[in-house]
Amino acid sequence: MLDIKKIRADFPILNQQVNGKPLVYLDNAATSQKPQVVIDSLVNYYSTINANIHRGVHTLSQLATDAFEQSRIKLQQHFNAKKSHEIIFTSGTTHSINIVATGFTSLLQKGDELIVSAMEHHSNIVPWQMLCERTGAILKVIPMNQEGELLMDEYDQMLSNKTKLVFVNHVSNALGTINPIKEIIDKAHQVGAAVLIDGAQSSPHIKTDVQALDADFYVVSAHKMCGPTGVGILYGKEAWLNKLPPYQGGGEMIKEVTFEKTTYADLPHKFEAGTPNIAGVIAFGTAVDYMNSIGFDNIAAYENELLQYATKKLLQIEGLKIYGTSEHKTSVISFNIGEIHPYDIGTIIDKLGVEVRTGHHCAQPIMDFYKIPGTVRASFSFYNTFEEVDVLYNALIKAKMMLS
Ligand code: ALA
Repeated sequence: MLDIKKIRADFPILNQQVNGKPLVYLDNAATSQKPQVVIDSLVNYYSTINANIHRGVHTLSQLATDAFEQSRIKLQQHFNAKKSHEIIFTSGTTHSINIVATGFTSLLQKGDELIVSAMEHHSNIVPWQMLCERTGAILKVIPMNQEGELLMDEYDQMLSNKTKLVFVNHVSNALGTINPIKEIIDKAHQVGAAVLIDGAQSSPHIKTDVQALDADFYVVSAHKMCGPTGVGILYGKEAWLNKLPPYQGGGEMIKEVTFEKTTYADLPHKFEAGTPNIAGVIAFGTAVDYMNSIGFDNIAAYENELLQYATKKLLQIEGLKIYGTSEHKTSVISFNIGEIHPYDIGTIIDKLGVEVRTGHHCAQPIMDFYKIPGTVRASFSFYNTFEEVDVLYNALIKAKMMLS
């Protein structure tokens, strides 16, 4: 059992009013809130050891480098990567996907096939469409059913020796569906295709073992995991990362530079050109420690209770329809009430202190599938409470009355 009162005390932002009402923050799928230890980690870095890394012989540079590299080890251990240099620090999931999508340009030929799912965030669609434009590769889409589950039979039919890459999210940001990624990876490997898993929405809820999954690439953003914005990781198997060309040229990513020829640094530096988000990386390590101290099994069990309670409660509202009703879900509820525009609901409940996301959630193909302009999305974290679900429910009743 989690001590939610004690956990909430770790998050200074939660103890405030918005529009004169106690804050009820239910937009965790967009970004999570930060515990004091993470905020302290950022402040401590800038107050005590701020220096550039991997560059100086001086003490501060050494301390900053050690803290930065310590974070890499924490991330390696958390995701169970075989080697620490398989963890590349990036600015987030979008950056990580773009490194891989750009890197595959020279590895593909016209007519090669790539497979994506129907429930991806735009960041796991657009970089691959750009790759197809550059190479003449063809993008195929695994369809989904009304519950928001992938049609795995159709996936089976799509796979062939033309398939070079498959990219699917572990958890849908708009629906909450947990996809059968182990099966997706195993089947792709049977035809020799590589697989990138977008872990942006799974990583706050599920502890992932990239070796057990046998994922070729797994990408994550720190800010969804109680960490700072502007930092994330690209996990890649060593062999793949060695095969891909660097994404950006610059300082830090080279072995030797002459005007005739430049050679590139080994992993992980080959993909870490320029001064990175040093404070962010260090605080990301702190965030992962914090989440592990609570325990991912505890987090998942509690969030599932919140999800079940909230689902039951919200379905009591006449005309409320939930999008994404798979049995395998994280704590996300996307919904509409009758014909009321999601934006109107979001605006009214914000006045009551309830913060949710409205719109297409950067997943327009999902909205097209359901023939809706968008949804209201309430996404729960381990620091949310059952009382907050009740506040959401009452706010929705009020909004419905005002808007019907
Ligand atoms: N991808 C984030 C979301 O789903 C921003 O809200």
